[in-house]
Amino acid sequence: MYKIAVAGTGYVGLVAGVCFAEKGHLVTCVDVDERKIELLRQGKSPIFEPQVEELMAKNKERLTYTTNHKDAYKDADAIFIGVGTPAQPDGSADLTYIATVARQIAESIEKDCLVVVKSTVPVGTNDKVEQFIHDFLVNDVKVEVASNPEFLAQGSAVHDTLNASRIIIGTESKWAEDMLKDIYKPFNLPIISVSRRSAEMIKYASNDFLALKISYMNDMANLCELVGADIQEVALGMSYDERIGAKFLNAGVGFGGSCFPKDTKALSYLAEQNGYVLRTVRACIDVNNDQKTILYKKASKRLITFNGLKVAILGVTFKPGTDDLREAPSLANIPLLLEHGACIYAYDPVGLDNLKKFYPEGNHKKGSITYAKTIEDALKDANVCFIFTEWKQIKDVKPETYKKLMRTPLVYDGRNIYPVNVMKDTGVEYYSIGR
Ligand SMILES: NC(=O)c1ccc[n+]([C@@H]2O[C@H](COP(=O)([O-])OP(=O)(O)OC[C@H]3O[C@@H](n4cnc5c(N)ncnc54)[C@H](O)[C@@H]3O)[C@@H](O)[C@H]2O)c1
Repeated sequence: MYKIAVAGTGYVGLVAGVCFAEKGHLVTCVDVDERKIELLRQGKSPIFEPQVEELMAKNKERLTYTTNHKDAYKDADAIFIGVGTPAQPDGSADLTYIATVARQIAESIEKDCLVVVKSTVPVGTNDKVEQFIHDFLVNDVKVEVASNPEFLAQGSAVHDTLNASRIIIGTESKWAEDMLKDIYKPFNLPIISVSRRSAEMIKYASNDFLALKISYMNDMANLCELVGADIQEVALGMSYDERIGAKFLNAGVGFGGSCFPKDTKALSYLAEQNGYVLRTVRACIDVNNDQKTILYKKASKRLITFNGLKVAILGVTFKPGTDDLREAPSLANIPLLLEHGACIYAYDPVGLDNLKKFYPEGNHKKGSITYAKTIEDALKDANVCFIFTEWKQIKDVKPETYKKLMRTPLVYDGRNIYPVNVMKDTGVEYYSIGR
């Protein structure tokens, strides 16, 4: 059993914390956000993520939550860093939060300690974090930095952590490697031990590969439309080839979330800084930028104006199973619709509270968003409907419902939920991606 502190109680930090506790370690979760810590102390998760609250309750003897980083770090065996590394305007990763935690660690630790960076950081960052900690170290203790990138997917984060396909550990000493292996021993999962820089690179190379796969399929989908092929049939045919694999072949309105958009930009930036143009990743970013508003562009051609139209939006989160709106395709379309005077009625099972932080309740007015409690409220008398997230609740909507409730049954589906012929036979004017 190790005494572990985790910096950051977001998707990565909190999930890591509860999973370490589940495996028998003594964990203190640290955050600067008082509201999050207060919620956690009440047994509530500040993020929408299956199983987190159950594991918090089950392991409450081994879990503590605090904003007092000094107390949490001073006698920890290992400190895991899971704070954000958002994109800056130039595409580079913002390492401010990492630097703050590094300095707090340096000023707090009173015994030998392994610092483990879980956040996604550009190659070479952990060398600098280690140097930074040494520069600010107050007590005479041994401290090393290891890289342990995270591969969880939001919506299944706990499951992904407890059943990870692999645990990547990047270390520069046997001491660090042995300790990390020991911490992860109770997980009983494959551990790949590499150098610190390779570990940092594995994370970007993996994420950017997945993003590239999505953009590739979206590019193919757009061509399918032009040449009369169906991207779902094409994907099905491709999926039987084990070299390609069956996952991540769904065409749609592009990827969003807190990882793929910033990790593609950050790797591309890192390459440029090193005098290299990462052309594949650049293309992936360009395709995705265009794809996010592809349905808006299609609808703009079909309608004279959005001014005064009731526009139903089904799904605002970047994917189902999460309340996260970061870089969601919905956020690329909403400003365009509002600018053109649409009267938006948005429905999402969990994402609306986060959307309200950007757009206040519009109370049915033009150029604003009204928050619909049900899908039916959103669809009733709507002139047009956009589907941006394939939540189960949305997939369960029957084609007849659009026909029955909407003023004009005109549906733009960014997730290819319905068979084209079924929508047509029901009398819905239906546009999707690549079909
Ligand atoms: N979200 C994912 O699916 C995912 C998956 C793999 C990797 N990652 C990477 O993990 C990192 C974290 O992502 P996230 O989605 O969990 O972020 P997040 O924004 O949900 O959480 C970050 C948390 O860190 C806290 N924080 C900021 N400064 C702090 C400090 N000095 N001390 C303690 N806490 C502090 C914030 O208040 C916030 O609660 C990023 O680098 C991301 O790229 C994320």
